[in-house]
Amino acid sequence: MQDRRKFLNRIAGAAGLAAFSPYINSVKAESLFKAIERNAHRSASDIATDEDFWYFIQQAFTVSPNILNLNNGGVSPQPKVVQDAVENYNRLSNEAPSYYMWRVVDMGKEPLRAKLADIAGCSPEEVSINRNTTEALANVIFGLRLKPGDEVVLTKQDYPNMIHAWQQREKRDGIVLKWLNFDFPIEDNDFIVKQFENAFTAKTKVVHVTHLINWNGQLLPAKQIAQASHRRGIEVVVDAAHSFAHFDYKIPDLECDYLGTSLHKWLCGPFGSGLLYVKKDKIKNLYPLMSAGEPESEDIRKFENLGTRSFAIEEAIGHAINFHLMIGAERKAKRLFYLKKYWTDKALQIPGVSIGSPLKPEFSGAIALLQIAGKDPGEVNEMLFNKYKIHAVGINWENIHGVRVTPNVYTTLHDLDRFVAAVAEIAET
Ligand SMILES: Cc1ncc(COP(=O)(O)O)c(C=O)c1O
Repeated sequence: MQDRRKFLNRIAGAAGLAAFSPYINSVKAESLFKAIERNAHRSASDIATDEDFWYFIQQAFTVSPNILNLNNGGVSPQPKVVQDAVENYNRLSNEAPSYYMWRVVDMGKEPLRAKLADIAGCSPEEVSINRNTTEALANVIFGLRLKPGDEVVLTKQDYPNMIHAWQQREKRDGIVLKWLNFDFPIEDNDFIVKQFENAFTAKTKVVHVTHLINWNGQLLPAKQIAQASHRRGIEVVVDAAHSFAHFDYKIPDLECDYLGTSLHKWLCGPFGSGLLYVKKDKIKNLYPLMSAGEPESEDIRKFENLGTRSFAIEEAIGHAINFHLMIGAERKAKRLFYLKKYWTDKALQIPGVSIGSPLKPEFSGAIALLQIAGKDPGEVNEMLFNKYKIHAVGINWENIHGVRVTPNVYTTLHDLDRFVAAVAEIAET
């Protein structure tokens, strides 16, 4: 126990210090660091409910104290340390761009790849640094070698950018898209896996799985779907835009072949940062989206052939990783679920309110869908903003209707009380 405590203290100490040097206001940094140190011995579940601890995390952000942002599912604000890093690298780059960008700032790219691989739980040789999920997965969707008649299984509840990419391949290359259409929320993983299996035929070559459905926060059993697919020789593409750095897992846990995610969502990275994972033995056969000198190379870097880009954004990702490590993946996942549970439990007491999302931790995290009987999600969302200055998002997509509400690590219970009070008033009108 004593050793574990020392170890946790060391981890919290190292990551905590690294997260705050050298950009943030030193008084805030010191109090946050002390809060982390003081709490290193406590369990993640215990800390998840400790407002004093999370108050210090809130202070690391620069979010508006007036507009309540409950649309962290769209994109997350960055902690101040990440914002400062972007500005700092950008300022340096502007002193002599081609010198500082290529010869100085870019020197951090390989260490960054290793750092990303560390939190992703895979080899750095399986990690490509891209600008977002859309770019990461476009590499996969357009890079896979598919013939006319080959089938791809996907769902109506996948993200539009990915759906459109597959539809473009259907039009151009004659592949066949096989659609599943779920009626979420579903708290039965066997049922979900069975629907995928029922859609598989001898012609199925690929399955596209959105790990966490963005519309309502339903977590799909990606690993079980991957296992069922691999038994039939089907390749597995995972859209992890919303699950990475939200849930406490490593990419190989999902047993997928390809995965894309956005780092500006749950990692709180700079806007326009993402990651592509390609399993080592799959790299050679996947063509890069942007042409590379050796398109059939086994080097993951062939998916980064963008030309001139923002080196400041790329490099600042490292500061977001430090911040994430400082909080700790498990503590963060537990806190996010706790916040969702806190407001949904209260909202469910209000007549006419229902939640269009799973409520158990095995099937959901921070994202939940508010539904008020007889009210249009768009109208409810407008009322939330116009009258209460609460920013969320109205969803009307396939079988999913409601206002998507997504707190983040900086959201306090006080914020959620304010939100629930607004919901009660709207439901009464
Ligand atoms: C499930 C899912 N996939 C992909 C994306 C696209 O992410 P980005 O805009 O960062 O490319 C999103 C964005 O919200 C998403 O929710």
